[in-house]
Amino acid sequence: MSFGRMPIANGFLTTSEIPSEYFFELAPAFCERCGMFQIAEQPEPDKMFHAQYAFYSSTSRYMQMHFERFAGAVIRGVLNGRSSPFVIELGSNDGIMLRHFYERGIRHLGIEPSVNVADAARGRGIRTISAFFGQKLADDILVEHGPADAILAANVMCHIPDLSSVAAGVARLLRRDGVFIFEDPYLGDMIAKTAYDQIYDEHVFIFSADSVRRAFAEHGLELVDVEPQPTHGGSMRYTLAPKGSRAATLRVTEQLAKERAQGLDKIETYRAFKENCEKSRSRLIHALDGMRREGKRVVGYGATSKSTTVTNYCGITPDHVEYISDTTPIKQGKLSPGAHIPVKPHAEFMGKYPDYALLFAWNHAAEIREKELAFIAAGGRWLIYVPEVKIVS
Ligand code: TYD
Repeated sequence: MSFGRMPIANGFLTTSEIPSEYFFELAPAFCERCGMFQIAEQPEPDKMFHAQYAFYSSTSRYMQMHFERFAGAVIRGVLNGRSSPFVIELGSNDGIMLRHFYERGIRHLGIEPSVNVADAARGRGIRTISAFFGQKLADDILVEHGPADAILAANVMCHIPDLSSVAAGVARLLRRDGVFIFEDPYLGDMIAKTAYDQIYDEHVFIFSADSVRRAFAEHGLELVDVEPQPTHGGSMRYTLAPKGSRAATLRVTEQLAKERAQGLDKIETYRAFKENCEKSRSRLIHALDGMRREGKRVVGYGATSKSTTVTNYCGITPDHVEYISDTTPIKQGKLSPGAHIPVKPHAEFMGKYPDYALLFAWNHAAEIREKELAFIAAGGRWLIYVPEVKIVS
């Protein structure tokens, strides 16, 4: 399947940068042999993760709470009772999760290639190195710090094309009784909700329990637990451990059975997904065309990475969407990738409510709808497209 020509999802740009904007073909594929859903071509990592990386994890209050709970679960469930435990986080961003280990005096190390967000973490006192993780770095860390009791990653593993090198590095760095816990957007949810906007350059893989189990088994790591998470519109937390070191929970068997029942191992499921994406696209553009004809003001809410797939795949232009409101300073005053819709601060939205707000940050719907009650009271409405195109209050 192809979503066509796509820019870098977080590649917010200025007008003068338009002529050199980078594009690639966004084409997801499913492999019946290894069960992996992935994009076929990915831009070079340094085109996406660099010193001006636009994504700061700590912008959402709900995500801050989520990572506090994640850290708490690791401290209680894994580190408890261990002497001088050591925790590593891959892709630790601005330290949204590691701060909880740092604050408790737990030995920790963040690995974050995007220097600007890593600096934000270092500024908070969180020990962070700016590098891409792989076997080589794993060896260096092992020499300097010794093995890890827990290696964590959130919304990161799916970003890494050389999964094999990371899995080998993790296997080498983990203590024999250590665990590797990571979470990422979940394939089952994406398919069930036609949430095709999970597919963009950074998300090389959209994992399932089955594809994770198979990919890591090659490196002696066994899937021992799974736990669905509400974040990012539906995620899964995977716990892996050196083979034979701990028993797998019943949840793993159940999840694998559930995936088979959903048809995640069958190509037909992905053919149906493709049709559902096309239907979703026509409905969304039809709704936006209608609003434009009626002279309604439509504003995007949340300049998410996901929205880059939606705007470019659906052909949404600044004629449909006046601007996108976003609270991230680095995105403000810039244009959205490919579609070139201006990104403006939230104050703009508050200052003059539009008729409709196209909810690009649909994964934060609960948090956003709760704080934008005045917009609804003023007669505004949300236009959503996951799980289906709908106007809601
Ligand atoms: P996110 O949901 O993490 O999406 P993605 O992984 O697709 O980039 O990003 C949320 C974006 O929405 C981020 O740019 C901040 C913005 N945002 C707001 O502008 N207001 C809000 O209330 C929230 C929760 C997010």
